[in-house]
Amino acid sequence: MTTVTNVFASFPHGSNTPGDQQEAGAPGHPQGAVTPALTAASHAGHEQIVFCQDAQTGLRAIIAIYSTALGPGLGGTRFYPYPSEDAALADVLNLSRAMAYKNSLAGLDLGGGKAVIIGDPVRDKSEALLRAYGRFVQSLGGRYVTACDMGTYSEDMDIVARECRYVTGRTVPNGGAGDSSVLTALGVFQGMRAAAEHAWGDASLEGRVVGVEGVGKVGHRLAGHLLEAGARVVICDVNSDTIRRTVAKHPEVEVAAGRDDLLARPLDIYSPCALGGALNDDSVARLSARIVCGGANNQLAHPGIEKILADRDILYAPDYLVNAGGVIQVADELAGFNFERARARADQIFATTRKIFALAGEEGVPPAVAADRLAERRMAEVGRLRGIWLGS
Ligand SMILES: NC(=O)c1ccc[n+]([C@@H]2O[C@H](COP(=O)([O-])OP(=O)(O)OC[C@H]3O[C@@H](n4cnc5c(N)ncnc54)[C@H](O)[C@@H]3O)[C@@H](O)[C@H]2O)c1
Repeated sequence: MTTVTNVFASFPHGSNTPGDQQEAGAPGHPQGAVTPALTAASHAGHEQIVFCQDAQTGLRAIIAIYSTALGPGLGGTRFYPYPSEDAALADVLNLSRAMAYKNSLAGLDLGGGKAVIIGDPVRDKSEALLRAYGRFVQSLGGRYVTACDMGTYSEDMDIVARECRYVTGRTVPNGGAGDSSVLTALGVFQGMRAAAEHAWGDASLEGRVVGVEGVGKVGHRLAGHLLEAGARVVICDVNSDTIRRTVAKHPEVEVAAGRDDLLARPLDIYSPCALGGALNDDSVARLSARIVCGGANNQLAHPGIEKILADRDILYAPDYLVNAGGVIQVADELAGFNFERARARADQIFATTRKIFALAGEEGVPPAVAADRLAERRMAEVGRLRGIWLGS
């Protein structure tokens, strides 16, 4: 059984035939009934949510498109063992909205979308499941373009691409952009330079002490850029192998015993490069750094933290602004991947970060609010142009 469902209460069960397309209000769902998914979507302001199911392969996926004002919604596919459909839906709605803002601020002609596959990637991933998923993405006709995220890799995108044209993040031999952390780390470094310029009047990071929390794909590359720029780098990670690998590559780094030790040190810059939620009431209260700039997504643990940071005179470089190098890298694939072109675009994160700090000053708001405003402005202004009739 294979079913595509647009904005529907949950994964359909029962006697749908292959290729069924069901919309809210379709047979079995009374016209006008408000479904949980529809309620969640309208609260979050999304354009479209698609539930995809293929019983034979065990595929259960949700694709969410927040906005196509600037172009097709681009965002990765997260493969994760969510405890419930509701948890998966909540995550995909948040993630797709965040992608719209990130892509807008990165200056890309791309909207925001994201997908989740519910399951354990180690146990449940198979060629057939990924290909089934690819067919669903293809069925959206390019409204959604996928990429890697947690639990999916470039090799998986190669498989998805066998059924679907709307895929990025493939392997280099298959025409892809490869590991997106290369330009993510570069973009964070550029954002950090802009923050240094704003805070200290000089973009140089020479002699600055930077605490990097999490030295995985992004963090260890960022440490490399920082050391090259003459900064002192202190790292921490929960994985001792990752620390060992980073120290082997960069013997100059200092290693903190853990997050608490890192936060207790006198830092000029704190760079969260591990999980989301790094900036909470507790960590912000303990922070000695003048700047926060890191690669992790969703760093602000709850609304209002951006204000607490500003009140403590800590300059926060918004996460989705400075970590956009990865999406810039994979988006470049859509035009036939050219690393130098993508790199030049990721370097622009310096100028955009500078612009956000200036706007925040002019409008008297924290940089996180200024970033949201600029992203929304571009979506509204450029999106409006679609209304200009081009003739037949
Ligand atoms: N890879 C990209 O291109 C990209 C793009 C944009 C945003 N991001 C975000 O950047 C962050 C890092 O991504 P990545 O690709 O480097 O992931 P990764 O899994 O390679 O690295 C994350 C590292 O953080 C460590 N870690 C986990 N919990 C920790 C903790 N509590 N304290 C210290 N270290 C901890 C892990 O051991 C791991 O080494 C994530 O939030 C990701 O969503 C990544």
